[in-house]
Amino acid sequence: MILIDGKKEAALLREELKKEVINLKAKYNKVPGLTVILIGDLTPSQIYVRNKEKSAKEVGLKSEIIKYPENIEEKVVIEKIKELNTNETVSGILVQLPLPKHIDKQKIIEAIDPSKDVDGFHPMNVGNLSSGYESSIPCTPLGCYLLIKKIEPNLSGKKAVIVGRSNLNGKPMTQLLLKENCTVTITHSRTKDLKTECLEADIIVAAVGIPELVKGDWIKKGCIVIDVGINKTDQGIVGDVAFDEVSKNAKALTPVPGGVGPMTIACLLKNTIDCFKRSQI
Ligand code: GUN
Repeated sequence: MILIDGKKEAALLREELKKEVINLKAKYNKVPGLTVILIGDLTPSQIYVRNKEKSAKEVGLKSEIIKYPENIEEKVVIEKIKELNTNETVSGILVQLPLPKHIDKQKIIEAIDPSKDVDGFHPMNVGNLSSGYESSIPCTPLGCYLLIKKIEPNLSGKKAVIVGRSNLNGKPMTQLLLKENCTVTITHSRTKDLKTECLEADIIVAAVGIPELVKGDWIKKGCIVIDVGINKTDQGIVGDVAFDEVSKNAKALTPVPGGVGPMTIACLLKNTIDCFKRSQI
């Protein structure tokens, strides 16, 4: 079984991006800039944002964090986003989720200029991805996709089963694998027989938020299994896949932590650089 080393793959991607930033600086005499807006003081969000900034600096991007208190008014955030939309030194804007309840997430997402939407959450980018046009692609599914391609470069005709239908992961993951000519099945909480669906799969992406849902006897020999889950349990952090059982049948499997997570941040940096490049044309 191949244990997919997300930390190593993310470090390789960051090395490539670092070189790209040096070349862009030589060509344009400026570097891509990422601005992250963090509202409130949720600890996981603070940790994510700190990691994003550290990685951005490591590859040579200009990085800025704008922090607001939990009770900030929605219109103040929207005004700031509008200002960032017109700021030429800002290539990418990310508003860290989740947001406080009084702030309308969709309004915030739609305030971001689609050409600076490094999350790929704006409806225009969602539409572009599903139509096969160039766009920012949500960072977590993009990271999963790059890990899958490393194991199996030719995905044409493979049967992929996505567990979970979220806008964040399941739906964009489906689009990415469709583009690679996979036959994709999206499963979710109302799916009748998840085990039977999974047993057909050459590739499983589990992004459903249920600890260790995907079991060892759901896996066809040779299947590539990508675990997006990060679930807090009494036994510590576990994924959506029962790791020990599944590792006996899978061809390749991502661990949690150290699998998809590090790739997500590296893909955010990639998206920032790609937004910068598109803005220079
Ligand atoms: N919070 C957890 N994951 C994400 C993400 O991918 N993007 C944003 N903006 N917030 C998040």
